[in-house]
Amino acid sequence: MAMTLHWLIAALIVTNIGLAWYFNSLNGLPKIPPVQLHKSFGITILLLSLARLAWRIVSPPPPLPASLSRWERMAASTVYVLFYGVMIGMPLSGWALTSASLIIRFEPIKLFGTIPWPAIGPLTHLPAPAMKQTHDTFVTVHGLLADLAYGLIVVHVAAALRHLVLLRDGVMGRMVPFLPAASA
Ligand code: HEM
Repeated sequence: MAMTLHWLIAALIVTNIGLAWYFNSLNGLPKIPPVQLHKSFGITILLLSLARLAWRIVSPPPPLPASLSRWERMAASTVYVLFYGVMIGMPLSGWALTSASLIIRFEPIKLFGTIPWPAIGPLTHLPAPAMKQTHDTFVTVHGLLADLAYGLIVVHVAAALRHLVLLRDGVMGRMVPFLPAASA
């Protein structure tokens, strides 16, 4: 379950970043379908990440291999915590910036064009200046979390490859089903 959720969420996050880069290059009406798909994938990521967190609590992962040093364990925990911040904070800030906008009134969120998804109620009723300020704040937060995500992805992939290619210590097998896995 943890492996399935890991790879599903990873694929959706990379896809959603790609979609954002794509729709950022568009203007006007052609921008609407990729933005709507981005919102649908984003909300799906939120739900899957909450499921992943719940699963982690119900079924904690096996301890890391004893061969890992103190700094490696601390680095791993820091990256995990920051990743959960991105996996939950990005969709929430995206949902908030979309809700704090007049556009939501004639273009509500509809997951994959079919399932209606509510706006965050209080944000839709703000007076115009406060709504604009709130919208801009969440756009900034969303962008900063995107920058954090880029950094985390680079560090995470580099660390995974280091374990796979240089250390060959079975850490990669904890997330890749067909590789031998190591634990303490
Ligand atoms: C993990 C999930 C998500 C990821 C990885 C993600 C990623 C991104 C990225 C990289 C950008 C471009 C940021 C920039 O240009 O500075 C962006 C923009 C945007 N995202 Fe997301 N996003 C996610 C979830 C959501 C959700 C759930 C919504 C809405 C329900 C949303 C709505 C938007 C909108 C409307 C923009 C354009 C903001 C603007 O510049 O006006 N995102 N997203």
